[in-house]
Formats: sequence, C-alpha cells, structure tokens
Amino acid sequence: MTRAWNKSDWRSKPRVQMPDYTDATALNAVEAQLAKYPPLVFAGEARKLKASLGDVAAGRGFLLQGGDCAESFSEFSADNIRDTFKVMLQMAMVLTYGAKMPVIKVGRMAGQFAKPRSAPTETVNGIELPSYRGDIINELDFTPEARIPDPAKMLQAYTQAAATLNLLRAFSHGGYADVHQVHAWTLGFTEGDKATKYRDMANRISDTLDFMTAAGVNQQTAHTLQSVDFYTSHEALLLEYEEALCRVDSTTGQHIAGSGHMIWIGDRTRQPDGAHVEFARGVSNPIGLKCGPSTTTDDLKLLMERLNPENEAGRLTLIARFGAGQVGDHLPRLIRAVEEEGARVVWSCDPMHGNTIKSSSGYKTRPFDSVLREVQEFFAIHKSEGTIPGGVHFEMTGQDVTECTGGVRAVSDEDLSDRYHTACDPRLNASQALELAFLVAEELQARQVDLAAAM
Ligand code: PEP
Ligand code: CO
Repeated sequence: MTRAWNKSDWRSKPRVQMPDYTDATALNAVEAQLAKYPPLVFAGEARKLKASLGDVAAGRGFLLQGGDCAESFSEFSADNIRDTFKVMLQMAMVLTYGAKMPVIKVGRMAGQFAKPRSAPTETVNGIELPSYRGDIINELDFTPEARIPDPAKMLQAYTQAAATLNLLRAFSHGGYADVHQVHAWTLGFTEGDKATKYRDMANRISDTLDFMTAAGVNQQTAHTLQSVDFYTSHEALLLEYEEALCRVDSTTGQHIAGSGHMIWIGDRTRQPDGAHVEFARGVSNPIGLKCGPSTTTDDLKLLMERLNPENEAGRLTLIARFGAGQVGDHLPRLIRAVEEEGARVVWSCDPMHGNTIKSSSGYKTRPFDSVLREVQEFFAIHKSEGTIPGGVHFEMTGQDVTECTGGVRAVSDEDLSDRYHTACDPRLNASQALELAFLVAEELQARQVDLAAAM
C-alpha cells in the first residue's frame, strides 16, 4: 500500500539545489497564479507514454530522449524548436529502421529550465556571486542583480513551455512528421558519410511507401504513418513550479505532474528521504532517475520501492550516467540489484553527464569518442548480464553548434569558440547526434540478432 500523499509534503523534507526566494509574497502570488493555469500535459498522454515505456522495459521498443541541457529564454524561437524536433525525427527513423521496433520519442523540451549546480557560488576575477540556476530561476549575466532568484520567471517559463508544446503538437500531428517527409527532415549542414547513409535509408523508406500505396495499404496504416507521438520531459528540480502545476486526474483520481509527460530526478537530488523523491513518488507520470557512480545498491533498492512500489512497468526509467571507462565499475552491481528485486525498469544510457571535461581552450566540452564509448559499454554490459538496454538520453540540438569535440566533422578544441551557445552543458550538434543514432542502431541490430538466436 502506498502512503497518503499531498503535493506539498516535499516542503517538510530536506531540500537541495533549490533557490531561497527572498520575497515570499511575490513567490506565493506566482504559485497561486500557476495553480489556476491549465496543465501543460494531460493525464491520458502521460498514461500512454507509460504504457509505451512498459513495452520498452519488456524489450519491445526503444526510448530516445534528447534536447537541450537547459532551455533558455533568449534562444527561444520556432526555428530552434523545429530543428531539434527534426533531428529527433531523423534519429528515431534511423533507430526504427535499424532496430525494427518502435522508438518512443521524448524531448528534453517545454520545461527543461532549472539546473542543479556543482557549487552554490561562482567566482570570477575575485568576485563571488550565486551560481546561475537556469532561466526559470535567475539569469546567466555575471551581476549581483541577475543572480537573484525571481519567482516571476516561473510564469515566463510556463508561457514558453506552453508555446513550445503547442508547436510540437502541431508538428507531430499536422503533417510535418508524416513519414513521407523523411527527406525533408534533413538539416542543411548535416554532411559526410552519415548524411549520405541517411539519404540512402530515406530513399529505401520512400520506395517502400510507394509500394505500400500501390499495393493499396489500408487507411488505418496510412494514418499511423502521418503523425508521431512526441512527449516532453524535464528534471523536476524546482518543486514550487512542479507543485503549482500538479493536478488530480479526473479519470483515475491520481495526481499528475502537469508540467511535462515524464519528469526525472537528477543525480544530485535523489536522496531517498529528500524533497525531490517525495514529490516524484506521489505523481503518476513516468519517472526518470539518474544513476551516477555514487548510487549505492541499497539506495537504488530503496528508491525503487519508494518510486515504484507497485512495480509497474514503464513507471521507472533508470538513466545510467557513469562516464566512459566507468560503466563496468557500476552498472553490473546496479543491474543485479534490479534483478534481485525483480524490478521492472527501463534502462537508459546518458553518455553526456559523466563525460564533461574542460578543454585546453577553457570551454566545458564532451569528446564525441567518450560519448560513443559509454554507449558501447552500456550495451556490452547489458549483453553480458542478459538484460535489456532500453534507451538513450542525449543533450543535443538541431543547431550547428560547436560544443562537443570530435564527430565526423571533427570539431576541435580550437573550434569550440566558433558557435558555443549553450547556457549550461555542451550539446551534440545535429550531425554528431545523427552519427550517434547510426551507431546506436548498429548496437540495437546486434541485440535483435542475439535475441533471435536465444529464442
Ligand atoms: C542533466 O540531465 O542536465 C543533469 C544535470 O544530469 P545529472 O543529474 O545526471 O547530472
Ligand atoms: Co546537462
């Protein structure tokens, strides 16, 4: 039996990584306002995502989750949303084609605004200021005023998230995501052998579609190919915002986070008795849990019990993020803890957050080779443990940025300053993301071959 739960219970638990708002009246006013606004997502959508993730947990699908490290107010534009959406569609197509199974598409979008930080303050030229915590909390500018947490930013984040979702819904169901558009999703600057490979694949898909039309494939199938389900997700870090958007689903009477379809708990906020776990355990959305090197097997067992007491498949996605070369030190023991409990989870791989380094030019970056190596280690360990590698989690953008080094277009340390736009962590650009999708597709194909051989 689950304990009774109230959406404000987190307030009595230890909280970390959250701002101390100084103006309680202003904060209360914003919370009251948000509580009256419509939820951004609906319970039925979150349920559908959970069911799809349940299939992933059983090896009948694959999760592709990706988007900005931090969405920003200044970079907000229809073109940026469209381009990230396009790359996700391209990647999903590559994965679907390679793995021959459904790919569940979840953006780090429409709510990914609040950031945990490694230190509460930042010192530049001898001046110490509070850290930037994401546009929903304070501002990136290095001035004392900019770093004051301002609750009104939650309203701007809500508005931006609503507009983003509106566009995503239009793209998903308005014809743009129709498989017949498979050629049109190509971004101008993706080049090299992976772009050629994508075009070849797109040609084969087009041929198949022409054949299906000629053969008179029925209306129902045609309809399925004309739209996609595209979901949103973010780290549920700023609990005042999350609580204000929490609703009761009239169909089931369960609580639902109205801020996004899937929410996750970060590696720095997963204390089993902390505020973030307390909030997440009471909402019925699919929940992600980041697992880094410091995750103990005992904590993982406790967290699985708290977050998914009914052992519902699709409820919990464990997002492993250890760093290339370290996966073998941690993933096997956590997989065994899951197996010991008989827990039904989705295992996903975030090859970004364990691979952040400072480049010789001073920029925070991630070498493409390390990202790739972590993905390969993740697949290899699941293979040796006999468990299912269910998904990947990337920080990426449709923009032609130079934030991660390497890839076929070989971004070098010196190139990083050219187009380094992220407000937080370095993202894969579109061509690096596509390259990775092809490599993951190969791993998935190999997994399918193994599964078939085992049957
Ligand atoms: C993130 O996903 O942006 C993040 C901060 O990840 P983690 O909690 O895994 O460090
Ligand atoms: Co990040």
